[in-house]
Amino acid sequence: MATTTLAKAADDEAVRHAARIEHVSKSFAGPAGAQLVLDDISLDVAPGEFVTLLGASGCGKSTLLNLVAGLDAPSSGGITTDGRPALMFQEHALFPWLTAGKNIELALRLRGVPKADRRARTEELLALVRLKGAYGKRVHELSGGMRQRVALARALAQDSRLLLMDEPFAALDAITRDVLHDELTRIWAETGVSVLFVTHNVREAVRLAQRVVLLSSRPGRVAREWTVDIPQPRRIEDAPVAELSVEITEVLRGEIRRHGQH
Ligand SMILES: Nc1ncnc2c1ncn2[C@@H]1O[C@H](COP(=O)(O)OP(=O)(O)OP(=O)(O)O)[C@@H](O)[C@H]1O
Ligand SMILES: [Mg+2]
Repeated sequence: MATTTLAKAADDEAVRHAARIEHVSKSFAGPAGAQLVLDDISLDVAPGEFVTLLGASGCGKSTLLNLVAGLDAPSSGGITTDGRPALMFQEHALFPWLTAGKNIELALRLRGVPKADRRARTEELLALVRLKGAYGKRVHELSGGMRQRVALARALAQDSRLLLMDEPFAALDAITRDVLHDELTRIWAETGVSVLFVTHNVREAVRLAQRVVLLSSRPGRVAREWTVDIPQPRRIEDAPVAELSVEITEVLRGEIRRHGQH
């Protein structure tokens, strides 16, 4: 039927991109007038794609992620996402007065999951991030790595098709970070969620992504991008990961030399 076909066509159009960033620029008012932070950024994230956004400190990565999250509006250009994205930051931002389980249940409640289903779904999510048995643990009883696992479970509880991550593992030690890279890769493959992941760590970007997008500094522009076709699961010390990281680091260094770093 025509109406069904039309509705399907509209659906197909909607799911063609998990995120679509079109000619986005962003300026902030500063003491010396408006400061252009992002300049004409265009970037698509396909459904189920894992993209890392890489760039020097201060180049505008968090600004761009906040725009995609809808926390701020672009000065010009447009952003569309497939539904409302879930967010995860460097700081876990869990409610310390709630247990791990209750933090996750709150996200389920906010999304309208009926009370009777919340406990079972929370246990499933805890199992997904390998934290079975942590339901009743208070946030201060958890290690940094465990807190980020709970934060990831809480982000996944929102059932978003796009997960936005801003240096979520930057405060963790190298071994814990390594384990969480493995977990995130597994969860990404299992759930089919699209991920836009911000980092200034080149190896981390290559370890995780199908595509690495490098932003230049002052103002942030898409400088270059690389498709990473090294099979998953990868290890951060794998030779192909190291080789591509060296190549990207060279380009990143060139960008920093050209524009200076904050
Ligand atoms: N709300 C704001 N008001 C004014 N300036 C801002 C605001 N947010 C960010 N900036 C400026 O925009 C630039 C980019 O900041 P942003 O936090 O996006 O960088 P970043 O790439 O995430 O850096 P880092 O790797 O250190 O996290 C910086 O110069 C910053 O001072
Ligand atoms: Mg940042």
